[in-house]
Amino acid sequence: MTVLTPAQITRFQSLETPFYYYDLDLLEATLKACKTEADRYGFHVHYAMKANFNPRVLSVISKHGFGADCVSGNEVKKAVEMGFPADRVVFAGVGKSDKEIIEALALDIFCFNVESVQELQVIDALAKKTGKTATIALRINPNVDAKTHYNITTGLDENKFGINQSELPGCVDVLKKCSNVKMTGIHFHVGSQILDLSVFRELCDAVNGIADWFESQGIMITILNVGGGLGIDYKHPQDNPIPAFADYFKIFHENLRVKSYQHVHFELGRALVAQSGALISRVLYIKNGIKKNFAILDAGMTELIRPMLYQAYHKIENLTSSSEKKISYDIVGPICESTDVFSKDLSLPETQRGDLVAIYSTGAYGEVMASDYNLRGHIAAVYSND
Ligand code: LLP
Repeated sequence: MTVLTPAQITRFQSLETPFYYYDLDLLEATLKACKTEADRYGFHVHYAMKANFNPRVLSVISKHGFGADCVSGNEVKKAVEMGFPADRVVFAGVGKSDKEIIEALALDIFCFNVESVQELQVIDALAKKTGKTATIALRINPNVDAKTHYNITTGLDENKFGINQSELPGCVDVLKKCSNVKMTGIHFHVGSQILDLSVFRELCDAVNGIADWFESQGIMITILNVGGGLGIDYKHPQDNPIPAFADYFKIFHENLRVKSYQHVHFELGRALVAQSGALISRVLYIKNGIKKNFAILDAGMTELIRPMLYQAYHKIENLTSSSEKKISYDIVGPICESTDVFSKDLSLPETQRGDLVAIYSTGAYGEVMASDYNLRGHIAAVYSND
């Protein structure tokens, strides 16, 4: 989010809180920056729609020429409905149900990212039954440490995702017997909110070796899908609203061995949408506890669970206090759980009931991870250009 203007804050004051605010101009600028850098090398980007499937956000993204990376049958259907061409939709996930596979086959999606040998057999059988050929890529677990939060690490041997490298010879034997599957490529995703870009260099080394191995087995690899994971600056959202796309794509350009017939695919989620969203909430009560001052907001873990689930930091500002005096607060929500805390010991200008608070960088994994716990209901979204 860029700095919120006085006019925007005045508008917020007349609205029912809490709500998600989306800066669609920043979203457009972010998409253009990503596209420009990816186009430089002929890279293709699929938007990982799990990060945010708000329809307004999706319609902006689909207009910018991105494909869609989906992880459920409903995401696949939504992507097509929102204008992502079916031949640019990929379907990943460790637990695709038969129903989801059949529906995606019917839509003739671009590719299934297959996460186990058994799934490969099931997709082949269902494709045969429905008279289709499924285009697939094999998701391989490269055992590369993403050096990010434990809960959002996906590419280590201990993670449930992808096919382990030790299983590949057996997998190739099965693949050769699958008559209704067209193998096109290999897929990787090692984790999310990755800021140490050396991780991607390590990923490239792993991809190079695995692609060579497949080709040595007589299996042509035309797609190298290296997943997503590029992190954003949660600490300084206003100074760095657009992620480091140039550095990110350059690493792949310099380290991935791409043959003339191969295409490189990415699945970015967070980097495309996170900074364009803010959760706007009102202070309901100020409560001076024995050890703490609590600022109790009208938003809680039901609207934004990242701080509680991953100890994630989000910058928080009081938008309306003009006090010179600073006080340390625990910023908490109204939910009946002790873990319903956005931030501890945060120094803010003296805060009062009715003040508006912004929780930044919540455009990814914010609104979409909301729950109905405590029967809270879904909150509104407000857009910069309305
Ligand atoms: N591709 C696959 C196969 C994925 O599993 C994910 C994210 C992505 C792409 C997109 O990753 P991104 O570019 O957004 O890092 N809820 C967590 C993040 C979970 C990420 C799950 N997979 C959070 O709030 O931090």
